[in-house]
Amino acid sequence: MEIKKVVVIGSGTMGSGIAAHLCNADVPVTLLDLTTEISEKARERIHKSRPPLLIDKSKINNINVGNIEENFDVVKDADWVVEAVVERIDIKHNIYEKIFKNRKKGAIVSSNTSSIPIKVLSEKLNDEEKKDFCITHFFNPVRYMGLLEIVKNENNDLNKINSLKKFCEVELGKGAIICNDTPGFLGNRIGVYAMQVAMTEAFKMKLSIEEADAVFGRPMGIPKTGVFGLYDLIGIDLMADVLKSFIKELSDKDEFQIVAKEIPLVKKLIETGYTGRKGKGGFYRMNKSGDQKILEAINLETGEYSATKKIDLGIETVDINNLINRKDKYGEYAWIVISKIIKYASSLVPGITDKFNDIDEAMRLGFNWAMGPFEMLKSIGIKNFFERIDNFENNKFLENLSKTKDENFYGERQIYTDIQTLGKIRPSAIKLDKNNSAEIHRFKDFNIVEFTTKACALDYDSMDALKNATDKPLIVINESMQFSAGVNLSYTMNFADKGDFKSIEKFIKYFQDTCKTLKYSKYPVVSAPSGLTLGGGFEVLVQSNFVASHTNLVIGLVETIVGLVPAGSR
Ligand code: NAI
Repeated sequence: MEIKKVVVIGSGTMGSGIAAHLCNADVPVTLLDLTTEISEKARERIHKSRPPLLIDKSKINNINVGNIEENFDVVKDADWVVEAVVERIDIKHNIYEKIFKNRKKGAIVSSNTSSIPIKVLSEKLNDEEKKDFCITHFFNPVRYMGLLEIVKNENNDLNKINSLKKFCEVELGKGAIICNDTPGFLGNRIGVYAMQVAMTEAFKMKLSIEEADAVFGRPMGIPKTGVFGLYDLIGIDLMADVLKSFIKELSDKDEFQIVAKEIPLVKKLIETGYTGRKGKGGFYRMNKSGDQKILEAINLETGEYSATKKIDLGIETVDINNLINRKDKYGEYAWIVISKIIKYASSLVPGITDKFNDIDEAMRLGFNWAMGPFEMLKSIGIKNFFERIDNFENNKFLENLSKTKDENFYGERQIYTDIQTLGKIRPSAIKLDKNNSAEIHRFKDFNIVEFTTKACALDYDSMDALKNATDKPLIVINESMQFSAGVNLSYTMNFADKGDFKSIEKFIKYFQDTCKTLKYSKYPVVSAPSGLTLGGGFEVLVQSNFVASHTNLVIGLVETIVGLVPAGSR
């Protein structure tokens, strides 16, 4: 089944994001809403969006717009119709009736719902219609979030679901994970639980929000917004609605119920318009004192704001063991939060999926975590975990693991896809070399260089790895959020601070030589970037013979913004 034309119904946040991303894949798409004016405005929003939803803004007119009354005929030609209207079952049911009356025979119809079970969505469809109906749950912003959850119904034509999955993986660059029809599917079920645990434990332990965010952040491999920053970003009111829906859908015995209880301070914030970044502020707020803007943080006990305090844990990279073994309140908080997340996630296997690795993928792709709960367990070590954990009754996964004590329980990664990803081939690749900033692997007859520093910033060691790996065809790729944010500026700044400009020149010369080595290598050099590919990262990329880029790429020479001239490649 080929997908050549798509219609997206509902041009709000998600519909417009999905339409824009289909346009990125050069698939003709029509965006329909109640009125053409609404979908036209959506197209304007796409055009102005920052970070941009479109890879190439000049393609904006490849997105056609219309309304569901006069332009519904476009559905007759579509191979896939995506419904992304408001989360109301009556509206969705009416739309399905109309779609199935008009669609081309065999065309796929899917919903982007985040909370309505497929059983309910499809209850009015006949068996023939159910064959082609599924949930395709994209994350916001669609271009940049890697996760797509696909939920099947009992009647699906599996060949069709598989070809949709393949299309979304290959053409849209998504990690398409098939999951069971359970509330919040995989990503939100674990992700929202994790946020609630991090929040309720911070209240219990009387931590400041900056302290909680410093722990439940980079050292755990979680984006630096932490929990309270993320709450502000999503919207505190929206989170309250999400929690209400989970409370309603999940059984009374589900551990989620304990952490989803309404918190008086949160209620007060919503009532007073402190709904997060879109409101007057949230847990954090920007305040003005004269001409100065001051970032303030709320005190969880008093509700008063005061200037934020920087918390330095002295941990630069993801280091779960270092964190949970600390003999202070941060270590205690980290252990409580991580162990509860591991316990909850493992208690849901096989209920929400029988492949526990898929939960980790969902957390990586949907919440930008560096590792999911089961990889955290692996990195803590089975022996250490069971020495420290209290009880895990009725948790079949942990009961079993406590008996086998199998440190190698994890097995393969990225089992959800047939694509040969780095995560998939790594176990069979040979690690040739590793320094402080990069690793070199050999797979079949080519080398792979993976940068490993924070934001994959480049320094002498990264250059050495690139140079040393050109004795075979080379692929420069990594699994982190960024390909490379460029040369490590604080590293070069140290030289500048000391007035040591000779050392800066020496480094630039080394960088230029490395770029030349890549350019004139007798073997092909391929870069496969995703995420930020800035400055020096971009310069590495332009020396490659071939670039296979991800659709979430943000690329360019940005040195001038900090007053520098790009100098890595001549
Ligand atoms: P939204 O409120 O931004 O947009 C909904 C759009 O549907 C509006 O433009 C509205 O005019 C249109 N609409 C309403 N009734 C319609 C009808 N009868 N025919 C055609 N269009 C109609 O909503 P949003 O956030 O884009 O959500 C859409 C769906 O995606 C929902 O099911 C939601 O649960 C789901 N979702 C939302 C996410 C988010 O972060 N906002 C993330 C993942 C899923």
